[in-house]
Amino acid sequence: MATSSFPNLTVLDHPLIRHKLTILRDRRTCTKDFKQLVGEIAMLMAYEMTKDLPLQTVDIETPLEHMQGVQVAGKKLVLVPILRAGLGMVDGIAHLIPSARVGHIGIYRDHATLKPVEYYFKVPSGPDARDIFVLDPMLATGGSAADAVAALKRAGAQRIRFLCLVACPEGVGTMLAQHPDVPVYAAALDRQLNDKGYILPGLGDAGDRLFGTR
Ligand code: PRP
Ligand code: URA
Repeated sequence: MATSSFPNLTVLDHPLIRHKLTILRDRRTCTKDFKQLVGEIAMLMAYEMTKDLPLQTVDIETPLEHMQGVQVAGKKLVLVPILRAGLGMVDGIAHLIPSARVGHIGIYRDHATLKPVEYYFKVPSGPDARDIFVLDPMLATGGSAADAVAALKRAGAQRIRFLCLVACPEGVGTMLAQHPDVPVYAAALDRQLNDKGYILPGLGDAGDRLFGTR
């Protein structure tokens, strides 16, 4: 579903995604289930997002005869989780796209200023010729996502999409202002940020819930 006030945003609201997201948000959901659900939701979202991947024909032999099949065209796709919480989305998507390469961008949000601090960057070679999915469960102020995309663009990336579970208007607006060329996919667009920069109703601190820290 495209959301009219944000031309860059697509909310992927399949019933299974909505069902799983509700369990994910519930404060009673334990770390083990949280981790599993993040992976499952990411996989379902990736399935919907990849509907438009270009294909090329390929000649194969079945056990019975020759045929022309198809395969995804171009260089291997790259998943780029923003550390830490984005890591939780990698395995689910890699189940669907096992050939995907994985890059990593380390960014944390300074608790006082809410500004992103980058501490690690490593992506596969040839980013200019690859489809890149940047992964992070939360798009709050949008600072981390916008900085991650800027770092990828400096490295030469041209075809970038951003995939999150929960977005809020401020974060989607930041992405639209700084990277209007980067489509944002979310499982939900929530109401607002609180005064500490957490999304309401949200799901809390994604990294802490995923890794059992706190
Ligand atoms: C969280 C989340 C995003 C960021 C979103 O990470 O995973 O990366 O905050 O906030 P923003 O849109 O306002 O930048 P956090 O800084 O808590 O780091 P962590 O994953 O290492 O815990
Ligand atoms: N980061 C999180 O993990 N949760 C929020 O609600 C906002 C930023």
